[in-house]
Formats: sequence, structure tokens, C-alpha cells
Amino acid sequence: MTPEQIGLVRTSFAQVVPIREPVAELFYGRLFELDPSLRPLFKGDMKEQGIKLMAMIGTAVGGLDNRESLDPALRALGQRNIGYGVAAAHYDTVASALLWTLERSLGAAFTADVRAAWIAAYGVLAGAMIDTAAA
Ligand code: HEM
Repeated sequence: MTPEQIGLVRTSFAQVVPIREPVAELFYGRLFELDPSLRPLFKGDMKEQGIKLMAMIGTAVGGLDNRESLDPALRALGQRNIGYGVAAAHYDTVASALLWTLERSLGAAFTADVRAAWIAAYGVLAGAMIDTAAA
């Protein structure tokens, strides 16, 4: 990712933070619409899950320029996700749901450059998480 892209992801995520609860709800609604078979993998309270997901995205967004620290945390998260029944193919569905949600949530601020920056950022996250899945 370029420093400009990291900046775009951070600025746009900062706009999501104050509305993270409805955004998380929108995200999971879209995810289960895209693939209803994913719903049973989630056993806990979805509001709590949304808070955890948003916190983790926040950590990752903050660490995009410090990959030596970020990657071990992502690999560990990827490992835990395997334990929840997550397969590598599911990451594409999550990517679609996330981009759709950001577009809906950010409106005009979700420019083509912001979209490209999020695709790159998601690639960093999912890449590190899936590497573990493949190992
Ligand atoms: C970049 C991608 C992803 C991120 C940042 C992420 C983040 C998280 C976080 C923070 C948790 C909370 C528990 C923990 O920390 O161990 C979690 C749990 C979980 N994630 Fe992910 N995840 C991602 C991808 C996926 C994908 C692709 C799926 C597939 C459906 C998935 C399904 C789950 C499930 C089922 C749980 C456990 C829910 C429960 O406790 O019942 N995640 N994830």
C-alpha cells in the first residue's frame, strides 16, 4: 500500500468509528444475505461480535505502516478464525460485504481512490490471516 492509501483508509475509517454499531449491523446483514450458510458459524451475541470486528479493523488500520507488529496479530486472528469454522474462500464474501457496507456508510466520501485503498488494506488483512489458514 502507498502512504496515500494508508492515509485514505485511516481518514475514512475515522468517519466510520462514530457509527460503528449500525455499520457492523449493516455488514453482518449483508454478509448473511450473500451467504446464509455463514450465519450458523456465529454463536455469540452479534452486537458484541460487531464491536470486536470494528476494534480489530481499527487496530489493523492503525498498524498498516508497521507490518512487523501487525502481522503476528493477524496470523493469530486467522488461526482463531479457522477454529470458528472459517475457510479461505469465505474471505472473498467478507470482502464484498465490507466494500458494500463502506460504500453505503460513507456515501460520497467513498471515492474510487478510497475504494482502491480499502481493497488493498483488506488484502493485507486477509492475506496475513489466510497465510495461516494455508499453513
Ligand atoms: C479481515 C477479515 C476478518 C477479520 C478482521 C475478523 C475479525 C474477527 C474478530 C476480531 C473476531 C473476534 C474473536 C477473536 O478475536 O478471536 C472474529 C470472530 C469470528 N469470525 Fe472473523 N474476521 C475476519 C474474517 C472472517 C471471515 C472471512 C469469516 C467467515 C465467515 C469470519 C467469521 C468469524 C466467526 C464465525 C467468528 C466467531 C464468532 C463467535 O464467537 O461465535 N471472520 N473475527
